[in-house]
Amino acid sequence: IKHLRSAADLDAGTATLILDTAAEMAALAGREVKKLPTLRGRTVVNLFYEDSTRTRISFEAAAKRLSADVINFSAKGSSVSKGESLKDTALTLQAMGADAVVIRHPASGAPHRLASWVDGSVVNAGDGTHEHPTQALLDAYTMRSRLGRIDGLNVAIVGDVLHSRVARSNVLLLTTLGAKVTLVGPPTLIPVDIAAALSPGTEPSRGGKPKENRTGVSYDLDSVLAGTDVVMMLRVQTERMQDSYFPSAREYSRRYGLDVPRMRKLPEHAIVMHPGPMNRGMEIAPEVADSSRSTIVEQVANGVSARMAVLYLLLGGKA
Ligand code: CP
Repeated sequence: IKHLRSAADLDAGTATLILDTAAEMAALAGREVKKLPTLRGRTVVNLFYEDSTRTRISFEAAAKRLSADVINFSAKGSSVSKGESLKDTALTLQAMGADAVVIRHPASGAPHRLASWVDGSVVNAGDGTHEHPTQALLDAYTMRSRLGRIDGLNVAIVGDVLHSRVARSNVLLLTTLGAKVTLVGPPTLIPVDIAAALSPGTEPSRGGKPKENRTGVSYDLDSVLAGTDVVMMLRVQTERMQDSYFPSAREYSRRYGLDVPRMRKLPEHAIVMHPGPMNRGMEIAPEVADSSRSTIVEQVANGVSARMAVLYLLLGGKA
């Protein structure tokens, strides 16, 4: 593949190749091989129109560990404030020789538009409420490294599904890799049509047979915990909440927050994930976030390996 705009760009074989390559990158780092010459002479541009800590830093670290030249562009402080369009910004980056553009943008679909304007590869680092495919890859990598597989896992994605690009990309990727995903949250933040739209449902697969529907919905967190291998808590996105009814923070936390008594309902082997940034005390209790079941810090570390794998395969031409 040339671009990674959506988790739907990845079939099971390509996704597995990325996870396997990420594992090789992590193994090399573990053997103190801090830098690879693979992308020497290539230029990666990080084009961020929205704030980010983890994604931005880990793409920069990933590109540098592969010896690429890295240009960091932030909309704040650029000619975007003078009204320059995404297209003109993209053409400017193109003229500077960008081989790959990693874009975060508040508008859903911005990476798809960008891919039609530049010659290089485009990687979606989060577009509006739409998708965040490298987050899903690092999450899948974390599940596989902790639990040994993805196929057959029961994954509960809990909270503000309505505004979550992380949820969308995870549903697409995890179901492609054979997991069953249950979306859990209040009805106002997880309308049933979202689950139907996210699920492959009964659409014919490439082989012509209907795919198994691997996505379900529950409005009752307590009832799903005992049968869950992975519980992925989502950030409540108060900044995108203007159109949605949201219960009070206390009420939300009481019904959908993962606290210690709820964590104890999980099977012994189950892990707790969160993409960050967290609202500690709202969707996740601090004791849970910092517990041995939590993979939150591990997810950040795995993000560098997963993004190295994506850049390596897109620019090395092997995916
Ligand atoms: N998980 C995630 O995308 O975090 P940032 O917004 O800090 O990049």
